[in-house]
Amino acid sequence: MTIFIPEDKVLEIRHAADIVEVVSESVLLKKTGKNYVGLCPFHSEKTPSFTVSPQKQIFYCFGCAAGGNVFSFIMKRDGISFPEAARILSRQYGINVPVQTMSKDQKRLRSEREKLLEINRQAMEFFHNNLFSAPSGKQALLYLKQRGISQETMEIFRLGYAPEGWNNINNFFNKKKIPLDIVEKAGLIVKRENKNGFYDRFRNRIIFPIFNVNMHVIGFGGRVLTDDLPKYLNSPETPIYNKSSSLYGLHRARQKCRETETIYIVEGYFDLLALHQNGIQNSVATLGTSITTDHVHILRNVIGKDGHVVLVFDSDDAGMKAALRSLGIFMNAEVDANIMLLPSGHDPDSYLFEFGYESFFDIAKSAKSLISFLIDTLIEKYGLTVEGKIRVISEMRETLASIDDSVARSLYIKELAERVGIEENALLEKVRELSFRNRSSTKRDTFFNNDFARNHRKNGFRKADKRKSFHGKWTRLEQQIISMMLQFPPVLSEIGERGILDLFEDNHLKAIGDLILAHQDCSDIKIDDVINLIEDDEERGIVASMAIGENKWDYDGCLNILNRFESIRNKKEDTLIKKIKEAEDNNNFELLSKLLSKKQKMAVLSEKKKMALLK
Ligand code: CTP
Ligand code: MN
Repeated sequence: MTIFIPEDKVLEIRHAADIVEVVSESVLLKKTGKNYVGLCPFHSEKTPSFTVSPQKQIFYCFGCAAGGNVFSFIMKRDGISFPEAARILSRQYGINVPVQTMSKDQKRLRSEREKLLEINRQAMEFFHNNLFSAPSGKQALLYLKQRGISQETMEIFRLGYAPEGWNNINNFFNKKKIPLDIVEKAGLIVKRENKNGFYDRFRNRIIFPIFNVNMHVIGFGGRVLTDDLPKYLNSPETPIYNKSSSLYGLHRARQKCRETETIYIVEGYFDLLALHQNGIQNSVATLGTSITTDHVHILRNVIGKDGHVVLVFDSDDAGMKAALRSLGIFMNAEVDANIMLLPSGHDPDSYLFEFGYESFFDIAKSAKSLISFLIDTLIEKYGLTVEGKIRVISEMRETLASIDDSVARSLYIKELAERVGIEENALLEKVRELSFRNRSSTKRDTFFNNDFARNHRKNGFRKADKRKSFHGKWTRLEQQIISMMLQFPPVLSEIGERGILDLFEDNHLKAIGDLILAHQDCSDIKIDDVINLIEDDEERGIVASMAIGENKWDYDGCLNILNRFESIRNKKEDTLIKKIKEAEDNNNFELLSKLLSKKQKMAVLSEKKKMALLK
């Protein structure tokens, strides 16, 4: 958002950058036929299934389904955004991305962001030097040593100390002639009420700089050296710091996360340091918030699709509530989440300090899936009397209803029904009631929205659509047609003219198809052009997987598939129309509304069919 890369520069970068060259920086590639293969950097494997096509300029891993073009590769490798990846490539290939092509606003935002990062960097050095060289830092250094933090850890995480007094940072920047209002924007100083001037936010505190994956300092946390309150003070939200999408320690965790496909999540700064110091670098800490969707997406990128998350919680009620809230988020992102519970009175820091990492791993081995953990805890809390059962169910109900994937949902309902010993159907009904209520408003929107199909075109993939792509059934024939379009461009004009895509049931496949048609170039397509327009990581992988295959298409074979598809779809529509008429005749309005919205989803009807329905 803040960094802007003009469209023509994106093109220039893509023409200059070679995917084989870029991937080779981090993966040893071997040529096999047209493609290159190597060990996938996104999941651990012993035999290479990571494939790079120099011809199509895309990559795809047959092991973990990661895929995309040269930009997506860098984004995934470094866990960064598109503009950031584009910038890395532009530097590497000597392409000058001029600042003046940005709009005024964009320019302002970008230079502001860079200023804030620079101020934070200088503040970090100031705090860090204070810890080691200022006389007042002695106390802080002693405190850290007492808490078992090694010199090495202090250096790696660039810990610091904000001295006592109201004007240290203030003066530091003032002397450098840096305008204080921007230092205030960075959250380092606070405006005095009713008076001129500012005072330091962090005073007499241990400082934890918070890094993003590019090693920029985006914010700070500060802890008192005593039992005073508040124990922790953090940077406020700033243009560069957003706690719900930041994770402490991520910059040091990524490599190990990839290797182990596991990430430990803790709550505190010291917990995180303790884990790292004990060799458990695949860990991060949330920053005084519960887990958010943004967090989970970041996590999924670093551990890979089949990776595991282990939440390390204290056994207090707050931890339990946080777990309950995060369950739905993990479920909907299809991330395997487990929980390990430390003995009461311990957090990861105190536990590791007292018992060491082997003992920590023993507990980790018995980590439970989040859902079983929740069920167990609730049963323990309320018991299995009739009343207890009702309370267990009512506390779980909302969480279950928030799970979008119906298969996953019913599996969990089954598990809960078995554990509390009630009829699965009865429970299902309860959950259904709730999920219907949750969703009925969106349903109505869809029902009255005549332009359903239009919504899914043009914009490519929008957030609201995403969910379905993970779970929706990717009808086989529709998939085949998309592969055909990607691999055999001569058939594109036929598909366009016959309006084949309008018959698609899967909105995502249809949107991909529309993108392909819109980006064909003299009946050839640039697959990585299409990939560039897709926002979702997983969907990029799907397109790459469809494109990388080398099926032998011929024109007649394609026509056969298209004919078959058309006739199946027409039959389906006929049946649906018949059912709609029946429902109308029987005044069954509930069914009618369902059927109608289904029909809307079946995309645009041909003129002929519309006429038949009106008769
Ligand atoms: N936290 C915060 N603001 C507070 C209290 C807590 O931001 N006023 C966040 C911090 O990130 C902190 C985490 O919540 O690390 C966990 O808090 P807590 O369990 O209270 O502290 P510990 O991390 O155990 O800190 P310590 O071991 O230093 O006592
Ligand atoms: Mn602690």
